[in-house]
Amino acid sequence: MSGLFSVTRAEPLAADELRRVDAYWRAANYLSVGQIYLMGKPLLREPLLPEQVKPRLLGHWGTTPGLNLIYAHLSRIIAARGREAIYVTGPGHGGPGLVANTRPARRSAQHSTRRTRMPSVQIADAQAVTRALAHATTAASHAPSIHNTQPWRWWAHGDHLELFLDESRTLAVADPDRRLAILSCGAALHHALVSLAADGRHATVTRLPDKARPTHLATVRADARIPVEASAIRHLQTIALRHTDRRPVQSTAIDAQKLGSIAAAAESQNTSLHVLRPRQIFDLASATDHAQKIESEDEAWQAEMDHWTGGDRIPGTGIPDTVVAREASQTTVPGPEFGHPGKTAIADTHHRTAVFAILYGPGDDDLDWLRAGEALSAVWLKATELGLSVVPLSATIEVTLTREAVRQLLSGLGHPYLVLRFGVVDGATVGPPRTPRLPAERTVEQP
Ligand SMILES: Cc1cc2nc3c(=O)[nH]c(=O)nc-3n(C[C@H](O)[C@H](O)[C@H](O)COP(=O)(O)O)c2cc1C
Repeated sequence: MSGLFSVTRAEPLAADELRRVDAYWRAANYLSVGQIYLMGKPLLREPLLPEQVKPRLLGHWGTTPGLNLIYAHLSRIIAARGREAIYVTGPGHGGPGLVANTRPARRSAQHSTRRTRMPSVQIADAQAVTRALAHATTAASHAPSIHNTQPWRWWAHGDHLELFLDESRTLAVADPDRRLAILSCGAALHHALVSLAADGRHATVTRLPDKARPTHLATVRADARIPVEASAIRHLQTIALRHTDRRPVQSTAIDAQKLGSIAAAAESQNTSLHVLRPRQIFDLASATDHAQKIESEDEAWQAEMDHWTGGDRIPGTGIPDTVVAREASQTTVPGPEFGHPGKTAIADTHHRTAVFAILYGPGDDDLDWLRAGEALSAVWLKATELGLSVVPLSATIEVTLTREAVRQLLSGLGHPYLVLRFGVVDGATVGPPRTPRLPAERTVEQP
């Protein structure tokens, strides 16, 4: 700055000095306006086109000239007195002003800058974005997944996340198409988006961005600040509470209004929920029984199940015996089958009040499974907030023959992604312990 402004006196600035400070201030204002409103073409040498104007403003003009005026005069005083100083400002929406000042300041100090593009992210805000993305991957780690495999891998860049399917944690026998693994990743994606919303960040999601790399499931960009809705905070808190509660449901029936809002949560993620009528529950029971018989007679299936459940599983993953029932319960639709008894004593109650539903949609491909996972998360968080338990039952989806039987229960509405059991939570006894999670370094990469 020393070349721009020189001295201080106890009298008005000389005309030439005032002219130079004013020119500096107006240049900084010009650069600020460009950052706030324009995608490019900062010099306005040709008429602007609508697509060159930012659809979402970055920063706020109202606060900027004041910040720039202070910056210009402080610089003049610092240069005159040879002092070092730190200029602390807030709030963040004045960021374009500070970014603008780094340009003329750098030009005068180094005479070397050749950058022509306007910076589009405020410097101070960039750190907050990175922090919000780190919170998002932490929240995602709590997502439910098939056999608690956690088959996701995040690449955390400064301003965006990339979500990959980690094929080393998928089930080659039970899930050869990776549909339940991708569905699990969809649940993790939704958890991440809930966290960003609770951090007051607008997120732009591109699903399956690279056709040549099918394991690249999504890119999530965190951009402008948005108001934080109370529902976003509630959902974030619910992430910590949600878990699979396989205990028998209470005798209280679930009211229709609650089921309606759970179905709406699925619809908000472009997926639907079909609640089975009592007669259809018998068809589901017979399909589940059939699927479990086929799987338990398959040695490869049993070996895979043993790998992910019980005492010898990979640390930080899988289903511990403490959440598996000691013996099978006498229910119409058979409970989950883990191929061996667990350690949890479960009362022999009939699930007469349980509600069974099918998550479904129009397609049966990676994108549909990813969206189904997002819907599973939205449904589960909503159900938890309404005091309901959720148990996914995936055996009928894993076996092709029984998946077709479940599809028939939808009477042509679409393809089934997952069967869910809902019930009123047993609040009187202690629920199952939490399942473990992998440490962040196993699921999040920093390039
Ligand atoms: C796609 C998917 C399929 C699942 N299938 C079953 C199942 O068939 N039986 C079951 O008891 N739990 C099932 N679960 C629940 C997982 O076992 C559970 O989410 C995981 O062990 C993590 O535990 P948590 O939900 O308590 O955090 C499934 C979860 C997902 C996401």
